[in-house]
Amino acid sequence: MAAGEVSIDGQVVDSGEARVSVFDRGFLYGDSVFEVFRTYGGVPFGQREHLERLQRSADRLMISMPVSVETLSSEVAATLEAAGEGEWYVRVVITRGTGPLTYDPSTATTPLRVIIAAPVSVPPADHYERGIAVALLHASRPTDDERASGAKASNYLANLLAVHEAKQKGAQEALMLGRRGQILEGASSNLFIVKDGVVRTPERQTGILMGITRAAVLAAAATEGIGVEEGEVRPEDLYDADEAFITSSIREVMPVVSADGRTIGPGAPGSVTKRLHEAYLRTVAQATGAGV
Ligand code: PDD
Repeated sequence: MAAGEVSIDGQVVDSGEARVSVFDRGFLYGDSVFEVFRTYGGVPFGQREHLERLQRSADRLMISMPVSVETLSSEVAATLEAAGEGEWYVRVVITRGTGPLTYDPSTATTPLRVIIAAPVSVPPADHYERGIAVALLHASRPTDDERASGAKASNYLANLLAVHEAKQKGAQEALMLGRRGQILEGASSNLFIVKDGVVRTPERQTGILMGITRAAVLAAAATEGIGVEEGEVRPEDLYDADEAFITSSIREVMPVVSADGRTIGPGAPGSVTKRLHEAYLRTVAQATGAGV
């Protein structure tokens, strides 16, 4: 099976040969922004939205995008072309580049761009059929700071430690709590709850990552005639919900059936969740031409 391909500053290399300097600030400080999306039938879903968000993340952190979104799109296409047949996880990273060993970001002036196409690893079918458990945790992330709010910055240390803690508690995803105890989002996903037929998800003002899947699901809900509210979601709202699910580009729409050991609704994936997952897959099929 193909191991994938990598593009560094526009040059495609075999993934085993891909190298970045140890002086790169992405390596040293997590001083970079990124995006993750996947292919369906070999065609990326939501690529433009992801690359535009990458541009916004870079702007937010004052990293100047080295090339336009159009050029980056062509480079993703060239990387996928080299990768060949298969379904690919695509990660696009823009680092602030190399510079002297100082924290001052203005000392690095040549951003580096990396595109990774790796075989996509999808969650087990069982997670969709039976749902997953989540754990609610307090965590303080760099993007909770106003200066970096909303950016998809690569420093995921708080997120990965939260995932570790959630896994130790028998859960598959960590949900991060804000300063006032409200639920923000998953370590790598957005949260939705369903109560009395209405879908509810935390709003933009909380500083969450505005997921591309989240947006597609909200659009699908509107098409399906399902009511949606964007607003505060508190732990007790989740515990008391009829249904809950998380969304991300890799996990799509994943049912959540328990939180902190408490069963949500009947403890099985709900009908609104299933409808929205099917509607999301129809959106993907229309956009990519893939039979998913
Ligand atoms: N994670 N919130 C966070 C903190 C995320 O890291 C992600 C995505 C999302 C969902 O965004 P989207 O629907 O655009 O994928 C929300 C990606 C999948 C990852 O880190 O692998």
